[in-house]
Amino acid sequence: MRTPVIAGNWKMYLTPAEGKAMVQELQTLTAGVTGREIVLCPPFVTLPAVAEAAQESAIGIGGQNMHPANEGAFTGEIAAPMLRACGCTYVILGHSERRQYFGETDAAVAAKTKAALAGQLVPIVCVGETLDEREQGITQAVIEIQLRRALGGLTAAELTGVIVAYEPVWAIGTGRTASPADAQDVCAFIRTVLAALQAEAAPKVRILYGGSVKPDNIRELMAQSDIDGALVGGASLQAASFAKIVRFEE
Ligand code: G3H
Repeated sequence: MRTPVIAGNWKMYLTPAEGKAMVQELQTLTAGVTGREIVLCPPFVTLPAVAEAAQESAIGIGGQNMHPANEGAFTGEIAAPMLRACGCTYVILGHSERRQYFGETDAAVAAKTKAALAGQLVPIVCVGETLDEREQGITQAVIEIQLRRALGGLTAAELTGVIVAYEPVWAIGTGRTASPADAQDVCAFIRTVLAALQAEAAPKVRILYGGSVKPDNIRELMAQSDIDGALVGGASLQAASFAKIVRFEE
């Protein structure tokens, strides 16, 4: 009932020419794959080239961040209507790298989520604990606060249109993946928090796992009942590895 989503977050990698070549190869390697939403989130300047290359395909395009205002004097920022104009239908919000390096708060994530929904973009809202928080045994408390602050103001209809990505910070780019069982436990917990916010929406919300997802672990992750897809960093930069993840193949 929940269509799986495999999203690639290219972070600050791939120029327009490199992105275009990757998408062309990806289309060939994923031809005939159905029953998934495939999403690529390139750097802003690479978005138009990737969107153009992907326009005949079912590959969706997303931004990696946005400002909550529709326009304004905010040097260096990008607004939801601009992402839409570049072909985006998704946007990643509250990624741990935004929180860690750019001071993004839960309040900012909440404002951006509202603005994304109003701007016809599907927000992919990231939550996750640091290694220190996991070792202190406060993973659930941290994630509950992030979810309540970011998503607490949404109606059931709005929440249904949100994708949540669970990314334990200690598993990002480190080669350390949460075990499928641990990832499932947290994703199931996320669904209970969503149910407390909007009971009707919670069973419909897609929850992704992110953190060192690779072809060799995707199948087991996807077998978990509350994991509805993946947010992939490093392994999304090459068409060959990302296509295997899209296919749930080693
Ligand atoms: O958004 C993606 C995540 O940060 C995961 O990155 O797959 O390189 O660990 P990674």
